[in-house]
Amino acid sequence: MIKNIVKNLKPSSTLRINEISRSLELEGKKIYKFGFGQSPFQVPKDVVNELKNNAYQNKYLSMQGLNELREAISEYENKKKIQKCKADNIIIGPGTKELMFLLQILFDGEVLLPAPSWVSYAPQSLISRNKINWILTKSENNWFPTAEEIEKTILKNKNKNYLLFLNSPNNPSGQVCKNLKEISEISKKYNILILSDEIYSELTFDGNYKSISEFYPEKTIISNGLSKWCGAGGWRLGYFVIPETLKKLKDSLKILASETFSSVSAPIQYAAIAAYKNNHKEYIKNSCTILSVVGNYIYDNLKSNKIIINKPEGGFYLMPEFLIEKFSTSEEMCSSILKETGVALLPGSDFGFSKNRMITRLSFTDFDGNEFMENLSEIKNLDNSLVDKFAPKIVEGTKRLKAWVESN
Ligand SMILES: Cc1ncc(COP(=O)(O)O)c(C=O)c1O
Repeated sequence: MIKNIVKNLKPSSTLRINEISRSLELEGKKIYKFGFGQSPFQVPKDVVNELKNNAYQNKYLSMQGLNELREAISEYENKKKIQKCKADNIIIGPGTKELMFLLQILFDGEVLLPAPSWVSYAPQSLISRNKINWILTKSENNWFPTAEEIEKTILKNKNKNYLLFLNSPNNPSGQVCKNLKEISEISKKYNILILSDEIYSELTFDGNYKSISEFYPEKTIISNGLSKWCGAGGWRLGYFVIPETLKKLKDSLKILASETFSSVSAPIQYAAIAAYKNNHKEYIKNSCTILSVVGNYIYDNLKSNKIIINKPEGGFYLMPEFLIEKFSTSEEMCSSILKETGVALLPGSDFGFSKNRMITRLSFTDFDGNEFMENLSEIKNLDNSLVDKFAPKIVEGTKRLKAWVESN
C-alpha cells in the first residue's frame, strides 16, 4: 500500500537517539541533550502579545501570505542586503522546510548537496525524485564546497539543471561560508539555482552576515523565518525571497502552496509582523552573546589531539570529529557515548558523511536561555563562570564527553 520511494526512507537516527535517551531517562539516568537542536530562548514578549491580540483572526489569508507581513519582511531584508526586494518577491510558508520541499517538487534537474548538509534536504530530494550529487567538503574550507569541487561535480553532466543548497551559518558544522564570491562565480558560469538557507543568519556571532544573494542575486532564493532567531520553531512560519528573474518559479510555487497548505495560520502571520517590524536588536545581540560563550566553552574544553573541532561561528551547533578507532560507524559510537555518559549526539552519517567517519553533531542548547538572558544585563564580564551558573548541563555533559574520549 505504500510507495517504495516512501518505504525506503529510513527514520533518521535523531529518532533512534531520542528513543534511547527516553528509555535511559526512564531508568533514572541523567541525559545531556546535545542531540536535538532548538532555540533555548523564548519568543520576544512583544511578539507573543501580538499573537494573543490576534487569536481571533479566523479567515484564510492569501496563499502568498499576508501583504502587511510581506511588506514588513521586505523592509527587514532590505535593511540587511544590498539587493532590494519587494513584498511581491516574498512567499510565506508553514516553516521553510515545507517551502523547500515544494521547491524540490517543482525543480526539474539534479540537486547539489554539500556534505555536511542539514538532515532534510536529501530525503526531500528522494521524495521529489531529484538525483542527489554529494560534494564532500573539508574542515580547512570551513566545511563548505570550493568552486573547484562544485565544477568537478557539474562536469560529470553539464546538460542538467542544478540546484545547490547553501546553508550558512551551517547546521551541522556551526561554520560561516567565507568563499561566497567564488561559489557565486561558478554558479553563474553553469547557471546553477541556489537555495540560500539563511535560517541561522541572525545568529552569526560576529554580527556581520553576508548572503550569496549579494554576489548572485538573479538565481538565489533566500530562505529564512522565525524558527531560530525568534525562538519560534513551533510557530511554523518561514519565507522565501524570490528574485524577479525567477518569477515563473515563484508562480509555480504559489500554485503548489495553494494545493497543499493553502496559507499559513492567520494569527501567526499577524504576530510575525511584530517580529519583523519591532526592534529586536538587543534580543538578537544577547542571543548571539550567550550562544557564542556557550559554544566556545565546549570548543575550548573538547579540542584535543583526539577531537578535531572548528571554532563556532554561528547558530547552535558544533561538529566534533573523534579520532577513535574502535567503532565501525558513527551511529554505533553515538549509541555507545549515550549509554556510557548520558550525552546524546547525532552521527555525521545523518548529514551526508560516510558512516565510518567518526563525525558527530553537537547541539549546545541544553540550558534555560531565558534565565541566562534575563541575567545578562547585570553581568560585566562574560566568562566561563557564567556557563557554570546558567548552563550547568553543558558543563557536566562536556566534562563527561572529555573523560570518555580520554578513556577510549
Ligand atoms: C539548516 C536548517 N534549515 C531549515 C530548517 C527548518 O526550519 P523551519 O522551522 O523554517 O522549517 C532547520 C531547522 O532545523 C535547519 O536547521
